[in-house]
Amino acid sequence: MPLSYFQCSDCGQCFEPDQVTYNCLTCGGNLDTHFSFEENPTEINQKSILESCELSIWRYAPLLAAPDPGFTTTPLHQVGFTPVYQPESLRKSLGMQELWIKDESRNPSASFKDRASALVMARAIEANFKTIIAASTGNAGAAMACMAASVGKQAVIIAPRSAPPAKVAQLLTFGARVVLVDGTYDQAFDLSIEASREYGWYNRNTGYNPYTVEGKKTAGLEIWEQVLLKREDSAPKLTIFIPVGDGNILSGVAKGFADLQSLGWIEKLPRLVGVQAEGSAAIYNAFKTGKDVIHPVDAKTVADSICVDLPRDGLRALKRVRQSGGYFLTVSDQEILQAIPTLGKAGLFVEPAAAAAYAGLQAAIRQGLHQPDEPALVLCTGSGLKDVNAAIRAVAPAPIIEPTLKELKEVLHV
Ligand SMILES: Cc1ncc(COP(=O)(O)O)c(C=O)c1O
Ligand SMILES: [Zn+2]
Repeated sequence: MPLSYFQCSDCGQCFEPDQVTYNCLTCGGNLDTHFSFEENPTEINQKSILESCELSIWRYAPLLAAPDPGFTTTPLHQVGFTPVYQPESLRKSLGMQELWIKDESRNPSASFKDRASALVMARAIEANFKTIIAASTGNAGAAMACMAASVGKQAVIIAPRSAPPAKVAQLLTFGARVVLVDGTYDQAFDLSIEASREYGWYNRNTGYNPYTVEGKKTAGLEIWEQVLLKREDSAPKLTIFIPVGDGNILSGVAKGFADLQSLGWIEKLPRLVGVQAEGSAAIYNAFKTGKDVIHPVDAKTVADSICVDLPRDGLRALKRVRQSGGYFLTVSDQEILQAIPTLGKAGLFVEPAAAAAYAGLQAAIRQGLHQPDEPALVLCTGSGLKDVNAAIRAVAPAPIIEPTLKELKEVLHV
């Protein structure tokens, strides 16, 4: 296994792998992984990765901080390697030359969060933890519960009582012990940390457990393989639109590209654009000030997955966006809801947070931040089945008629 040490993304302090479990022991910042292949890139064989028959995140096992745990005939081995589409209708309607959409609804529990939960599970197996606890707005918990069910471990999930019912139903169906708090995600987060200390359970929280970013970096590795490797070296830089709540997905995708750069497998980093909801824009606000200080907000948005008062990985996401030459922007709830049927018409059924990323691309083009001749990839992070009520709000209701041809003709107008 190539993990050599952890380094705090905030104060820079380094730790031996067995010295820390979660955050920096000095300042509480989030930890980045560092690998032996950074010193010796030739220890990794690119060809054997590209020729691998494994079509999941475990294809990249030589680049990951926890070993492939096996369970090859379970959902744990079906995470990742999600498809990328090039929808002609959307590309044309935006006047673009090159548009990619990565469809994360194809993961076992139907969101991007399976990537993080799979790596956390691999680490839990390696370190012999039996119970894993997570605070979640819904998807991270559902992903953890799904991975725990795959391998016969217990998941304990704490979510806000406002979590969409489909997500709560998923948690319960996967057999997790589910507790809904009469409070916010942020309060669920703090409570889950207290509980993991009290009971000795492994805590999966986003922006706390360093293995979440490890899992999420596999999306960056896949974008390299599925998109960057297919383009000319001289082609314009790719811009990636990512929905942002805590900032951990963005940090993870960026880590994937950083590792590829250490290996010498890419030269330039893709530009990363963090899309926040107007009503949950703590990182965007900090980006605008140009300072590394994030003030919590009183978050409120239709996109529950990116509804966060105090982003737990905001500082690292800020740094990664600046390093990549990217930016943050915000979109309104109305723009988010409108993007749901727009993506639907290209065959994608997404939840509001995923729609926010596409609304972000639309807004960036409208505001002149993104030129239509610049290639873009939109990360669609979760399925519309996660929040059917939002989809219902986003479309006109179907007419109800008597079952006669006459009435059918009247409503179809044909
Ligand atoms: C579907 C979806 N999109 C985007 C996000 C935002 O990710 P992060 O909180 O890491 O920024 C989440 C997080 O729960 C999510 O579930
Ligand atoms: Zn630190």
